[in-house]
Amino acid sequence: MALSNRNPEKDPALLRSSRWFAPDDLRSFGHRARLKGMGWDDLDFRDKPIVAILNTWSDLNTCHSHFKERVEDVKRGILQAGGFPVEVPVMSLGEMLMKPTTMLYRNLLAMEAEEVLRCHPIDAAVLMGGCDKTVPALLMGAISADIPSIFMPAGPMLKARWKTETLGSGSDVWKYWAERCAGNLCDGDWKQIENCIGRSAGTCMTMGTASTMACITEALGMSLPGAACTPAVVAQHSRVAAATGRRAVEIGWEQVRPSDIVTQKSIDNAIVTDMAIGGSTNAIVHLIALAGRAGLRLPLDRFDEISARVPVLADIRPGGRFLMEDFYDAGGLAALLAQLTDLLHTDCPTIAGLTLGEQIADSEVINAEVIRSRQNPVSASGGTCVLKGNLAPDGCVLKTVAADPKLLRHKGPAVVFDDYPHMKSMIDDPELEVTADSVIVLRSAGPLGAPGFPEWGMLPIPKKLLQQGVRDMVRISDARMSGTSYGTCILHVSPESHLGGPLALVQTGDMIELDAEKRTLHWHVSEAEVERRRAEWRKPPVRWSRGYHALFAKHVGQAHEGCDFDFLTDRSPGQEPDIF
Ligand code: FES
Repeated sequence: MALSNRNPEKDPALLRSSRWFAPDDLRSFGHRARLKGMGWDDLDFRDKPIVAILNTWSDLNTCHSHFKERVEDVKRGILQAGGFPVEVPVMSLGEMLMKPTTMLYRNLLAMEAEEVLRCHPIDAAVLMGGCDKTVPALLMGAISADIPSIFMPAGPMLKARWKTETLGSGSDVWKYWAERCAGNLCDGDWKQIENCIGRSAGTCMTMGTASTMACITEALGMSLPGAACTPAVVAQHSRVAAATGRRAVEIGWEQVRPSDIVTQKSIDNAIVTDMAIGGSTNAIVHLIALAGRAGLRLPLDRFDEISARVPVLADIRPGGRFLMEDFYDAGGLAALLAQLTDLLHTDCPTIAGLTLGEQIADSEVINAEVIRSRQNPVSASGGTCVLKGNLAPDGCVLKTVAADPKLLRHKGPAVVFDDYPHMKSMIDDPELEVTADSVIVLRSAGPLGAPGFPEWGMLPIPKKLLQQGVRDMVRISDARMSGTSYGTCILHVSPESHLGGPLALVQTGDMIELDAEKRTLHWHVSEAEVERRRAEWRKPPVRWSRGYHALFAKHVGQAHEGCDFDFLTDRSPGQEPDIF
């Protein structure tokens, strides 16, 4: 279904920016005069789309270090197509250095993006993001502002190499850290890994949250075909950036808005993609939030319904063997989606001006080891499942494709930690009563409890068990987990313990049973005992009293609600600013 062109004659009077620059009045005189004071002329900015480039560059965002150069490619494309590029820096959320967690600030960047788009003379926007939270945040803001927007992903890093090994960010850090804790890796080797695991600019090159969200964005229809997998530092990435700039000018004229692209059907396409790539569990939270901004309800169960019929085809770490550069070389996302057309709504329009079906029609799998066939999938059903039970009445998630299959049906006694400092102080204590059959539980790690919903969910395996060769255990928390992580980690337990969810009442020794096939997580404690413990439970005090943190604490939703602020969900009425 083609997108409608709302301005086929390219009438400048229909451009949003004309409200700022066209009138013959005092205020517009000021707008024009001040741009001219910067050296621009009428020829530069009058009667053409003004395209804002929302740039999340920062010296402290290790994944966006190439954005200073890449933004020039986007500008080149905008100028080629007859637009006026304006670079607008917005908050940068760099996963590695921000504490306590970037998730605390996703909604802040979303608010900033929405308001920056709304309050300026902007006809279209290029959203430059990549590191995990920047993708959903910029999309959430653009959906709420509903100004024509196109996403330009940072692209993954090149594959890292160490000795004869290929290293993937995150996943191989956890792997070799476990070996180091087990006494199998010397200081020199560990230092060498530190020196080489970040080989270039770009986002994590495993199928972590950044790559997952980039793929989801392309499948949703919000970035150009091929954008998601193109490595950050190859020449093609510059060409994708310029093409994105050119297309931004066109959507500025045509007035193609996020509301034309982000629909119930395109959200389903995004979920199919998430499952087929064995994507990050974080995508679930972000997609619920994105849908919410578009006024769409997306219950957790929808992920499970789709997961049940979608095979995992991308053999990429942490659920598989390869890395994003291999995925790109193997044909990229389009080649993968081309095998799933019966599961996709191929008539969904994309920002490229095509339908999704047209966009992927000529794609070819070049390496069937990396992009598996339907007859030879990594896993017959989707990579993530949703569990329910008396420990998680509103649900929780498990990335089955990254778990030890032997643990997907497991019953064991809980070893409970009240919060992260408690766990950190005790986990490697030789006296800790824990075996490979234990179920490690961490509470106070959710949106309010941590606070900010950090990626603590790949709970550490006790050192004494690592030394015995144990590499996976059932672990449960109300935290998230990095998309690069792996293991039988049950995440996003909702409601969280801070609000008195059942996780708050679990005690060491309680039996917990996981059955991933039946989608259940059962806590073997009688109702009477639960009520007795609940009567003794005291709500933890609110830790934040001022500023953004207080706003977050007052308005953030739970994991199954996407953790957006309650006053930002649902479609924005789209108020335009008064210009007096
Ligand atoms: Fe930025 Fe992984 S740390 S994408």
